[in-house]
Amino acid sequence: MRISLSKGTWDESTADIVAIAVGSGKTRLGRALSRIEAVTGKGSIKPLASDERFEGKRSQTLKVAAVGKAKARWLLLVGIGEEKDAEKIAWKLGRAVAAVARAQKSAAIELPEVTPESVRAVSQGLVSGNYHYTEYKTDKSESPALTSAVLLDAPKDTRGLTSAIRTGKAVAESVNFARDLVNAPPNDLTPLTLARAATRESKKLGLSCRIFNKARIEKEGMNLLLAVNKGSAIEPRVIHVIYKPARPKKKVVFVGKGLTFDSGGLCIKPGPSMITMKCDMAGSATTLGIVFAAARLKLPIEVHAVVGSTENMTGAKAYRPGDIYKSLEGKTVEVINTDAEGRLVLADVLTWAARKLKPDLMIDHATLTGACMVALGPYRAALYTDDDALASAYLDAAGTEGEAFWRMPLDSELRSMLKSPIADLKHIGGRYGGSITAALFLKEFTEETTWMHLDIAGPAFLERAHRRMPKGGTGFGVATGVRFLEGLQ
Ligand code: BES
Ligand code: MN
Ligand code: ZN
Repeated sequence: MRISLSKGTWDESTADIVAIAVGSGKTRLGRALSRIEAVTGKGSIKPLASDERFEGKRSQTLKVAAVGKAKARWLLLVGIGEEKDAEKIAWKLGRAVAAVARAQKSAAIELPEVTPESVRAVSQGLVSGNYHYTEYKTDKSESPALTSAVLLDAPKDTRGLTSAIRTGKAVAESVNFARDLVNAPPNDLTPLTLARAATRESKKLGLSCRIFNKARIEKEGMNLLLAVNKGSAIEPRVIHVIYKPARPKKKVVFVGKGLTFDSGGLCIKPGPSMITMKCDMAGSATTLGIVFAAARLKLPIEVHAVVGSTENMTGAKAYRPGDIYKSLEGKTVEVINTDAEGRLVLADVLTWAARKLKPDLMIDHATLTGACMVALGPYRAALYTDDDALASAYLDAAGTEGEAFWRMPLDSELRSMLKSPIADLKHIGGRYGGSITAALFLKEFTEETTWMHLDIAGPAFLERAHRRMPKGGTGFGVATGVRFLEGLQ
């Protein structure tokens, strides 16, 4: 999408559709509508607004033909309620335009305040709101129509603003990249093609991308990842993307769970739970999205993405409950339930990344547990770390990006639930605290590296659209990860 700045005002715009924010409450609403009618003509908006019960409330929009002296084809009144935060209003405007634009190709947006932050937000909202997954539709008429947007009332000096457009677009494109990967069906998106997608995007951005095949993974000693792979007819992959700027301030490694399909293995999932399990590589999509965004934005941080990718299947060689494997870290692990495969894959990848990359900080994203959704609902991710400053910086970044996280305890009291009578550890706890014991299991493999675990099982994939998230793959976590990296000193 082309997004540009214009000094023009909304009444002069010849775009297909012009978006204007309208607040709620009698005086705010009345004033806003009068201002529009001064251009479109008395009685052209107010009766319609009242008929349609458009009161400028948060979730309301009203699309009307632009008449009178207005030069556009349509006007879109976007309700913002009592909202005063310029950035949030900007997001809303961008999203609203993208949502209603069907035949409209060009849009113009009147931001209440034209600041770098609001320009970034509206750009991000436009590009991520314009997302539709039509890859497998023969009829592409649902494809996004909007190809250009003009931000009105721009000041003379636009330097900070054009770079804000670039930032907003780069973040949203990385979010959309992650969504595409998650939405791709599991017969086409396998560990092999996931690796290819990462290689292709890395090439585009001039990043180095290393792929480990099965032989190499064996050589590295990632036996837990290999155990999960045993039941699959497709080889596993470890994908390592590196973005390294000239004088990096910090080295951050993102680790992602890349289960391109999780059948549960021999402890097979019932059909209804399996249907969405192509989403089990969402952590890897988020991880890749973050490193690619960091590169697009040329952030002064060295960022690595390390993804462990395999299917979890039921083939004749499948790993079994009762099996014991020696992790890369050295601890032996007794397998209890083959459906708790994600933590096994992550354990080896975390150890590998900690030892080989020695980062200042390691953050994993994973659709790890159903228990996390039981605890926090479908829209919120769990955040685990022992580092208070890190948790609070991350939650701040999430707040800015409108993504919902909640800090959960790495409760060492529950550690004993992972004791095995026969091996060093078993990989699941009991019935209670399932998201916490999964996090405690991962912690065993982090080699004292500063580490944070994000369980995105809920918000990574949605049955229906919710707030900023579309249905299907959401790209959840990419925007927060990037915002956090921007704030790192
Ligand atoms: N991939 C699932 C977790 C999941 C569930 C993600 C729903 C997204 C939506 C994970 O591998 C899993 O199956 N976890 C088990 C663990 C249990 C066997 C200890 C679960 O949560 O039921
Ligand atoms: Mn599973
Ligand atoms: Zn899984």
